[in-house]
Amino acid sequence: MVKNNNLIKNTGATFTPPRLADYISEKILSYYQSDNQLIKVLDPACGEGALLSSISKKLENRNIKYELIGFDSNIDFLNEASLNLVSQYSKGPVSLINKDFLKQVIPPSKQQKLFVDSISTDCINETIDIIIANPPYVRTQILGAEYAQNIAKRFGLKGRVDLYYPFLMGMTYSLKENGLLGVITSNRYLSTKSGASVRKFLKEQFEILEIIDLGDTKLFDAAVLPAIFIGRKKTIKSNKKAYFVKIYEELNGYSGPVKSASDIYDVMASKEKGYFETDGKKYKKTSGVIKFIPSKDATWALLSNEENAWINKINNAATNLIGDLFKVRVGIKSTADKIFIKDDWESLEHVPEAVLLKDLISQENIDAWEISTDKKLKVLYPHATKNGKKYTINLEKFPAAAKYLENHKEKLSSRKYLIDAGRKWYELWVPQNPDSWQKPKLIFPDISTYPRFYFDESKKIVNGNCYWIVAETPEDVNYLLLIQGIANSLLMTKYHSLMFNNKLYSGRRRYFSQYVEKYPLPDINTAASKKIVSIVKKLNNLQGKNKSKLIADLEISVANAFGVETILNLD
Ligand SMILES: C[S@@+](CC[C@H](N)C(=O)[O-])C[C@H]1O[C@@H](n2cnc3c(N)ncnc32)[C@H](O)[C@@H]1O
Repeated sequence: MVKNNNLIKNTGATFTPPRLADYISEKILSYYQSDNQLIKVLDPACGEGALLSSISKKLENRNIKYELIGFDSNIDFLNEASLNLVSQYSKGPVSLINKDFLKQVIPPSKQQKLFVDSISTDCINETIDIIIANPPYVRTQILGAEYAQNIAKRFGLKGRVDLYYPFLMGMTYSLKENGLLGVITSNRYLSTKSGASVRKFLKEQFEILEIIDLGDTKLFDAAVLPAIFIGRKKTIKSNKKAYFVKIYEELNGYSGPVKSASDIYDVMASKEKGYFETDGKKYKKTSGVIKFIPSKDATWALLSNEENAWINKINNAATNLIGDLFKVRVGIKSTADKIFIKDDWESLEHVPEAVLLKDLISQENIDAWEISTDKKLKVLYPHATKNGKKYTINLEKFPAAAKYLENHKEKLSSRKYLIDAGRKWYELWVPQNPDSWQKPKLIFPDISTYPRFYFDESKKIVNGNCYWIVAETPEDVNYLLLIQGIANSLLMTKYHSLMFNNKLYSGRRRYFSQYVEKYPLPDINTAASKKIVSIVKKLNNLQGKNKSKLIADLEISVANAFGVETILNLD
């Protein structure tokens, strides 16, 4: 069946390629011990049946008797699944059910338990031996508010819900005790604050057997980076070791020895780790035991022993985290950037008053030690303060700005949330505190292939695609310079990758505030820290000049401050 892009976006229908399906089936069955009983195998969102088809072949090879159950809310996909499964593999019974899986499983809260016992006959709670799944990845905005609310209520979820979370819960409730789950989802829950509830749920419900983070290997056409979770349902807490494999494209110019592989599946199947080369690309594969840190928001660390030892050394040498000392804020949000932000205001017919046009630092013009002089962005900033109180400017006092904004009034007034909040139609949605721009600050973009922490003393405004940290006192300035030196180093780039594991495609990293707040800092009074601050001061004054010697010195000082070897490159 030919799927169009909208169908994929609305239903999360990215089918699993056969070889990836085989990899997941193999993984699950490597943990399965047969007791010669007929087993029930479920795919709760089976699409055209790729996963069920793969696992049924493998079950047959192992002479395991099985029944297949597939749900899908899309009848056309199910018809294809029926052709694929029933005609080819008729050995075990197949039930393909055109229903919303999330409504077939009943969350086991006390109240609902009563409901299950008394009413529901076709609920599948605790009936399944093996689940193999690639559930839909659909954001709440696309699900529709009513459906999202119903699902959230049913599963007791709060906040923004991505569909794979209730699916993980529903699948867990469908499994028998000791049942196996092999599921491919976005890898985001491993490393984000918002994934904390997913991690907690999985840790409580499963003996986690293995996590395979397939990172940016682009194994199938999905917008998200995938990871495979393999677990055995356990109501009694398990403390057995859980293993991980992590495969990412190598984009840091590694030039050491590599193993050759026929394709990426060959890399996945290999028992070895290290660097591989296939199809002209290099991949780095690491493996080890997952470290579960028993604190509320701690992410799951997929670190080898060597990596873990290095991280521990740095953590032990630190006296503070950035978040202990400073608040990391996000920049302004206009929600109409094309109207408020430009680099060619002078070319307009009605140029707003110069006093309202403020220099803007944005991800387009920021760099580690300087900002680009050819992209001079300015924001029309209709906010100011009087005696420390923020207010929106009166347009009558600024006729040119008024004229310009009036020309865009229709578009600006269509920002319903702003109007509903009783605000003026020409305001920025998030203006931040106008007084804070006056203070020295450290700024960095949210997404970047390398760290770009820039120090500003010229009162520039920060765009919403960047974060910023303000020096409230003169003493804070030295702290910001220390942070700048550390955050821009290769050492901290390596720390960031290992600890937060949040890479996007093409080697881009997220520099979320939740990560940067967790950067470790050495004692600011040590000689190594003072050296870092003095080098950073020089680097900040070298606009347009060669900085390589100072950057090399900085790398040495940062390593000294943490008591580890100098990092010369990222591999
Ligand atoms: C990512 S695809 C995976 C399909 C198949 N398991 C595979 O791996 O090729 C997700 C499937 O979920 C289906 N789906 C979306 N929401 C669903 C729901 N609430 N209940 C059941 N199926 C659903 C979509 O129609 C789509 O076929």
